[in-house]
Formats: sequence, structure tokens, C-alpha cells
Amino acid sequence: MKPQSFGRPRRHYRVIDSTNERGRALALAGAPSGTVVTADEQTGGRGRRGRTWSAPPGKALLCSAILRPLGSEHALLPLAVPLAVCETAESLAPVECELKWPNDIWLDGMKLGGVLIEAQPPEWAVIGVGLNVAIGPEEFPADLRHPATSLRHGVAVEDALAALVERLDGWVAADRERVVAEFSRRDALRGRRVEWQSAGGTAGAGAGVADGIDERGNLVVVDEEDERHSLGSGEVQLAVRDA
Ligand code: BTN
Repeated sequence: MKPQSFGRPRRHYRVIDSTNERGRALALAGAPSGTVVTADEQTGGRGRRGRTWSAPPGKALLCSAILRPLGSEHALLPLAVPLAVCETAESLAPVECELKWPNDIWLDGMKLGGVLIEAQPPEWAVIGVGLNVAIGPEEFPADLRHPATSLRHGVAVEDALAALVERLDGWVAADRERVVAEFSRRDALRGRRVEWQSAGGTAGAGAGVADGIDERGNLVVVDEEDERHSLGSGEVQLAVRDA
């Protein structure tokens, strides 16, 4: 069965706590696959690992899309969605995006966007995307963990949404090989020194050089003893050490 395309129905809010929070509530209430929640402004925007996500009103794409059901064919969804975001950005402005595993979108080494997927398998996933569209350099908070940037080039947030939902349709349905190949092509970590810490899994802590993405979508890191580690995105917190 062909899944419902993303973008309809759409609920838009001028101000909301978090589009992901609203998306979760709608998913729990049975909203159909394809439903999208957008907002001009979030008062409690969520990032990964319990962080916050903020953006000046009207200057970022703040979007959460419901996918249901959530099957084994979506195992690489956390890598597929950032690919859709990269293509969205590149369709609107003369830019080339890279990806910092698992799902940060980078432009010129700075963070352009992020993805937060919250799921209740096998029923649904809420795919949250934040994409900095028209934020001036002076508008980013000074204390960001990683420098941020914005698409600019006169791009409109509504155009970014239209481009994103179209590309989500393709990437959410993409097969594993295509996702791994395209993510590898955009991999900003390959060859760079990274450190990881366990984030609830069995991965422990360690350091080494990133050596690409494996077929499970895990990050491969080679340590000083030449041992290869396959790190799952839910299991580790990662830091780039030579950035
Ligand atoms: C990250 O990089 O940590 C992920 C950031 C995801 C932010 C988006 S903005 C729209 C959606 N609603 C939220 O509360 N979070 C996501």
C-alpha cells in the first residue's frame, strides 16, 4: 500500500510549545500518516538528548510529520530524514550540505538544522525537523554547543516546507542501501577524531577515527588498537575532537 504523502492535513500554529509535542498528541489520538504540524514560533522546542531548540519567530522551518505505521522498513529513518533536509536546502539555495551522524545537518561546518524523531513502534513516529532558514548570525545565542548557520539567499519558510514534504515522501520510502550510500557521500565525520560516551547502551566510552556508516546505520570508529566499534545512535553521545 502506498503511504499517504506528507503535508496533509496540516496544522499551523503562530506559537506553540513544541510541534513534536503536538505531533505526539495527534499521533496518540489517531491522526493519519502524512499529518504535519508547523509553527512560526516554539516556546519549548525540543532537541536531541533533552536539549532545547530555539529560533526567532518566522525565521526557521519548525515542522513535525506523522508517519504510521512504523515498520522494519523504516529502520534507517533517523538517517533518511536528514537526507531529505539536505536535499531541501540544496533545492532552494546554492549550498552543499553535509551530515554529522546521526542527524545533524551541517553547512560549512556549522549546524543548519536538526532532526528529532519520537516514536511508538510499531504504531507511529513523529519526525521533527528544525531548519534555520533566515536567521542572521547575530540572532543565534552566544552559548551554542556548536556554531549555527542559516540558509538565507532570500528563501521563504513556506517554500522550505513545500520542498521538505516532497523529499520526505521519497526518503522515508527509500531502501537501506540507498540511504547508507547517500549518507556516506555526505558524511562529515569520516576521517575525523571522535570520542563517545555511553548513553544508556552497552557501548562504554572510547575514542578513535570515524570510518563511515555500516549497513545498520551505525557509525564505525577505529580506535588506537585498530579495533572497529559499531556505534548505535541511541547508545552513544558523540563529540568531534578535531573540529
Ligand atoms: C537536534 O538537533 O537536537 C534536533 C532538533 C529538532 C528541532 C525540531 S524543531 C521542530 C520539532 N519540534 C521540536 O520540539 N523539535 C523539533
